[in-house]
Amino acid sequence: MLSSLKETKGRLLLAPSILSADFTQLGAAIDAVSTEADMLHLDVMDGHFVPNLTLGPPVIASIRQHTDMLLEAHLMVSNPQALLSDYIDAGADIISIHAESTPHLHKLVQEIRKAGRQAGVALNPGTPLNVLEEVIADLDMVLLMTVNPGFGGQSYISSMTDKISRLRAILDKKAPDAHIAVDGGMNSNTIREVYQAGADIVIVGSACFSTEQPCSALKDLRQCCVI
Ligand code: DX5
Ligand code: ZN
Repeated sequence: MLSSLKETKGRLLLAPSILSADFTQLGAAIDAVSTEADMLHLDVMDGHFVPNLTLGPPVIASIRQHTDMLLEAHLMVSNPQALLSDYIDAGADIISIHAESTPHLHKLVQEIRKAGRQAGVALNPGTPLNVLEEVIADLDMVLLMTVNPGFGGQSYISSMTDKISRLRAILDKKAPDAHIAVDGGMNSNTIREVYQAGADIVIVGSACFSTEQPCSALKDLRQCCVI
């Protein structure tokens, strides 16, 4: 089982997003993907930064008790500094902060690293890559939203393929160990394109948990990327 993103260079990592799971059966949903998933993606929405409302530190702490899987908290919240230490204490291994959500991106990235966790910055589809410039060397991961955040089950925005390639070129120069995660609209028709463009962490919500067999859905998605 992966315990850090540091051991994974060049590998495709699949990260099921529990947003599309049955919240009354969360433990079972996590168990159902545990052999095929590389990490779990936890969508935190505050009903303000995005219109939807999901889960917070207590749910993450329960998931932490339930599994040793690598946990990434994707914070879609307006004031990430307010609860950052709670997400750290809850046991998230990787914390992704939206660049649009704070004037203190550098400070928060440092706080995550100081706590011994891995840091990600997330960008909405309309946010240019240059906002990463002053923090890029400190990042373990950049999370590119490939739909506008808030809901599962949306369609991939195809112009994001070019954004992934451009980010890969920037990271190769400035932060070669940093990963690119893509989030939104991933399925058997889109995964190969983003992987070939340079994404190595693929977040999958509905194409995993809205199927009868989440584990075999992940296997099929992995297969789509085999040349
Ligand atoms: C959307 C979330 C995603 C979502 C993806 O705002 O950040 O993680 O779960 O769901 P799908 O894979 O269905 O687009
Ligand atoms: Zn997400």
